[in-house]
Amino acid sequence: MTEIIERIQLVPNIHTCTVKAPEIARKALPGQFVIVIPDEYSERIPITIADWDKKAGTVTFVFVEIGSSTQRLAELNTGDKVYSFTGPLGKPFELNKFGTVALIGGCYGIGGIYSAAKALKKKGNKVISYSEARSKFLLYWNDKLEEASDEVRYATTDGSEGMKGHAWDSLRHNLEEGEKIDYIIAVGCTFMMYKIAEVTGIFNVPTIVSMNPVMIDGTGMCGACRIVVDDQTKFACVDGPHFDAHKIDWDIVMSRRKAYFEEEIISKER
Ligand code: FES
Repeated sequence: MTEIIERIQLVPNIHTCTVKAPEIARKALPGQFVIVIPDEYSERIPITIADWDKKAGTVTFVFVEIGSSTQRLAELNTGDKVYSFTGPLGKPFELNKFGTVALIGGCYGIGGIYSAAKALKKKGNKVISYSEARSKFLLYWNDKLEEASDEVRYATTDGSEGMKGHAWDSLRHNLEEGEKIDYIIAVGCTFMMYKIAEVTGIFNVPTIVSMNPVMIDGTGMCGACRIVVDDQTKFACVDGPHFDAHKIDWDIVMSRRKAYFEEEIISKER
């Protein structure tokens, strides 16, 4: 069992949680994830590691309260224990000197791009982060992201902060204006990553997305997380979770995302 050091609601429905996990903190790299089981009756939830502190032996992650298991996780507080906390899993981001890198984060993905921003800047890249939400009050970690990046561009659906629209609108606008972006990483909901892939495909900019399919074991044994990339079946947990956005079969990804919607609603009601 893993002890919770702190659990804070950042904005409605989005929480950050820091746990004591020295072994994971020692090995974690940007882009890797953990599988969290809040209690013995909960599902296994794959969550991107947002930050870690090797000295303190702590790991921080950001999660959205969306189903019954994440609701259970959101009910836990300092001193409580999560039933299981496994990681670091998956491959880390490639951290090279690309030139100008755009990091796109939406929803839990704002936390997901934070460690990449720090690491890619350290490698000498110019880091432009795009942070998107429906409204200004749903944006979080602005200070942290601004400190880790050369520039942060905000997009909100209601126009209350930054550009009115989505991150992909903002990115498309910048690319149309001729801004040179050499490499893009997007972390967030499936639809956002799909739209980013659509835009960057037009401008032919290499784009990596962090896939978030249903996972069970997280170690390549169950096949639950399979996706099709470049006509080949891949397991997001061990082959990814990062893939070339322009080679993903998005139709399959979208249909598999909806597979357990009904059960999820029933579970939450119960
Ligand atoms: Fe089981 Fe990836 S979660 S193979």
